[in-house]
Amino acid sequence: MKNGSKIRVAIVYGGRSGEHSVSCMTASSVMSSIDTERYEIVPIGIRQDGTWVNGTTDTDVLGTGSATVGPGEPVTISYGTGTFHVGEESLDVDVVFPLLHGPFGEDGTIQGLFEMAGLKYVGSGVFASAAVMDKHYTKIVLREAGLPVGPWVLVTANGWRTRRDELVQQIKALKFPLFVKPSRAGSSLGISRIESLDELDAAIAEAQKHDPKVIVEQGITGREVECAILGGTGTESPKASLPGEIVLDNPDSGFYDYESKYVDTDGLVLSIPAAMPDDDQEKLREMALRAFEAIDCEGMARVDFFYDDGELVINEINTIPGFTPYSMYPLMWQKSGMTYSELIDELIGLALERNAGLR
Ligand SMILES: Nc1ncnc2c1ncn2[C@@H]1O[C@H](COP(=O)(O)OP(=O)(O)O)[C@@H](O)[C@H]1O
Ligand SMILES: [Mg+2]
Repeated sequence: MKNGSKIRVAIVYGGRSGEHSVSCMTASSVMSSIDTERYEIVPIGIRQDGTWVNGTTDTDVLGTGSATVGPGEPVTISYGTGTFHVGEESLDVDVVFPLLHGPFGEDGTIQGLFEMAGLKYVGSGVFASAAVMDKHYTKIVLREAGLPVGPWVLVTANGWRTRRDELVQQIKALKFPLFVKPSRAGSSLGISRIESLDELDAAIAEAQKHDPKVIVEQGITGREVECAILGGTGTESPKASLPGEIVLDNPDSGFYDYESKYVDTDGLVLSIPAAMPDDDQEKLREMALRAFEAIDCEGMARVDFFYDDGELVINEINTIPGFTPYSMYPLMWQKSGMTYSELIDELIGLALERNAGLR
């Protein structure tokens, strides 16, 4: 495209969030599977300190599971033209594929930077990314759209200092167990499940380490079932995958935490389609599509539900879901008839279709 016949894709990975190494692993998988006849990769790493450097396409180095972005030539962007500069070299790219999770990656900040720069990018825009990164706002938008979300209480830092009693009264109205969470984090970091009010202070303090804004949710009974959405091209509607479920072999920890998600995956079995009646599968896919639209998502999103006795409650949405070939999002598509490289191709196609602008 810009320089030669291949489409140049900047793969941006690493990042400042706790999911740095996961992101490196994802970059390794995408680089290994992307159609190199069609695409040329420009690897860009964001170091844990937030500096941008030229990355590597050495998938062995990136794929170790504990990889971090090392030192390198600094990378800058010219705003307006969207040109990347790596040391002395200028690189025009056609599209950016951000493979970052959590804050400064999935939360609208980098999407805003790409908009400012005039760069096309894969996935949701500024608002949708920011809205779903914040569990409080996700619920507000979904509830307004008539979609089912569980009861919760918002605990802001100021509220906890100045209106603590009032908030505790509201929290008392929720049914235990409760889940205390940073409103904007990810990968279960800072989340506690509590059985009584005695544990509330410590749980809030823990969540506040990750975000001054905390939410306290009523525990929802049910299996956790997910659905992958892929934005439609042109005038096509977005598509919903078959639902998937993570079945824990050893549910000791009480919930699906960071360790079990990324480290000790032995105890996890992914079941696609999730064992549920066809009618409920349809209902879930329909709701996931409505959630995608309500939030204004683009490209991709994974919508996570609790499912109990035919009832569905939306837990959260991820605009950059886990994206290794072993992650739910790509696996749900695989079982729905789309391979990992086709998925990458489709996502890049969607991003190229759309101009950067008011998003
Ligand atoms: N309200 C809730 N009721 C029951 N389980 C919950 C609730 N909130 C969270 N959990 C459990 O904790 C896990 C992590 O919470 P989640 O909100 O999905 O955070 P993250 O953004 O880190 O994925 C969920 O997958 C689920 O197992
Ligand atoms: Mg989750």
